[in-house]
Amino acid sequence: MRVLSGVQPSGILHIGNYFGAIRQFIDLQENPDNDCYYFLADYHALTTVQDASRLRELVEDLAAAFLAFGLDPSRSVLYRQSDIPEVTELSWYLSTVTSLGLLQRCHSFKDKVAQGVVPNHGLFAYPVLMAADILIVNSDLVPVGKDQKQHLEVTRDIAGAFHATYGVEVFTLPKPMILDKVAVVPGIDGRKMSKSYGNTIDLFGPEKPIRKRIMSITTDSTPVEEPKPTEDSTLYDLACAFAPPGEEAWVKQAFLEGGTGYGTIKKQLVEWFFDTFAPARQRFDELKADPDAVESVLVDGAQRAREVIAPLMDGVRSAVGIR
Ligand code: TRP
Repeated sequence: MRVLSGVQPSGILHIGNYFGAIRQFIDLQENPDNDCYYFLADYHALTTVQDASRLRELVEDLAAAFLAFGLDPSRSVLYRQSDIPEVTELSWYLSTVTSLGLLQRCHSFKDKVAQGVVPNHGLFAYPVLMAADILIVNSDLVPVGKDQKQHLEVTRDIAGAFHATYGVEVFTLPKPMILDKVAVVPGIDGRKMSKSYGNTIDLFGPEKPIRKRIMSITTDSTPVEEPKPTEDSTLYDLACAFAPPGEEAWVKQAFLEGGTGYGTIKKQLVEWFFDTFAPARQRFDELKADPDAVESVLVDGAQRAREVIAPLMDGVRSAVGIR
């Protein structure tokens, strides 16, 4: 089964990115039947990040994060989208068989506009580029969050339109794998963790601000000695997510029995956070100190991706009459 997914290097990585995506991608690599392709969607990030040095840094960080969390380049292919410029070439061919209406119906575009973003054409065309990413490596399975489900349907529609227009079946129709059963990690204010809400707990970087973020998780004013509500409690959810096996009972007890203050629980959570992520954080720092090593993984990944992409693109060009 060929698995493909991409992550946009568009912001500082936080624990929501890990639990919601990267961890699942690494898990998929453990199944020997899977042939995994993961890429850093830097062309996509340009629709929102328009600062060259910032983009380079975000790309470097994301690559280091994938490796730090256990992506194994001997089993999975990790590449940078922009190392495969054929993606934009394919995106153009696809755009000529994509109806305007299909893109106008995309929720993520409509949501951004509703939020007040002044959309550029790239943002509108985003799903076509995404279809190119997916179709160009003949993916069978695309693990994505719920918010990307419609983009997968659009990808299948676009592939179908291409086949209908040119009368040849050059693409594999991919199936989505929706990652909606993953542990939902709330942000420190209880809303969904998202960089746009400023409520994230970052994965990497200095310890102090992370500790501060955890210590400022919103709680209510239940006195120390009283039992504390677990329903809709961000601290409770996060403490359960990070409690090592066997320690969930401690969390439950701390909340239900009273006598343990929120501050004490937060301090415990800080400890568990750093225990959980210490190996990945250390590996991340080592990788950041050795950018050549990271770069060579990406260069090698692009080469391996090309082996699949070259014959596919020959078929596409010949189908449309270019070359
Ligand atoms: N749009 C995806 C996101 O924001 C990122 C992405 C770009 C992607 N191209 C992709 C995901 C191709 C899966 C397949 O999460």
